[in-house]
Amino acid sequence: MTPAELVALAKEAMTRAYAPYSGCTVGAALLTQDGKVYTGCNIENAAFTPTCCAERTAFFEAVAKGERDFAAIAVVGGRNGEITGLFPPCGVCRQVMMEFCEPDFLIHMGGAGDEIVTVPLGEFLPYGFNGEGQLDKNS
Ligand code: THU
Repeated sequence: MTPAELVALAKEAMTRAYAPYSGCTVGAALLTQDGKVYTGCNIENAAFTPTCCAERTAFFEAVAKGERDFAAIAVVGGRNGEITGLFPPCGVCRQVMMEFCEPDFLIHMGGAGDEIVTVPLGEFLPYGFNGEGQLDKNS
């Protein structure tokens, strides 16, 4: 599975976003170490805080199906279904990634056209919370 193929699946998932409040539609495609893909979209709510981001929708479905080993995620998003630039994962989603992934887990962000920018989780969330209170840059 190439980054471009994973981004294409994230774009497809983005079409299923439920985002009547922000107008931001987001799609994610999560690749397991053994090559399976779980997709997700953002799902908003009239009460706002129950909203779930696309990345967490994908992670929670995968984990609920028994997956624990992940290689990469592709993320795309934009206003009103249009991708005009990169859509980096929010801090809460980065923390969820840290729960299950190593610092070399790859985040492929799809931008306008064929643009793809890849950043490892360790760069996106240095000094992340690991439940033990140690201050390690990537633990
Ligand atoms: N959103 C995501 O799906 N992923 C992110 O990483 C950032 C934000 C969604 C949540 C909300 O539905 C909309 O984008 C605007 O914040």
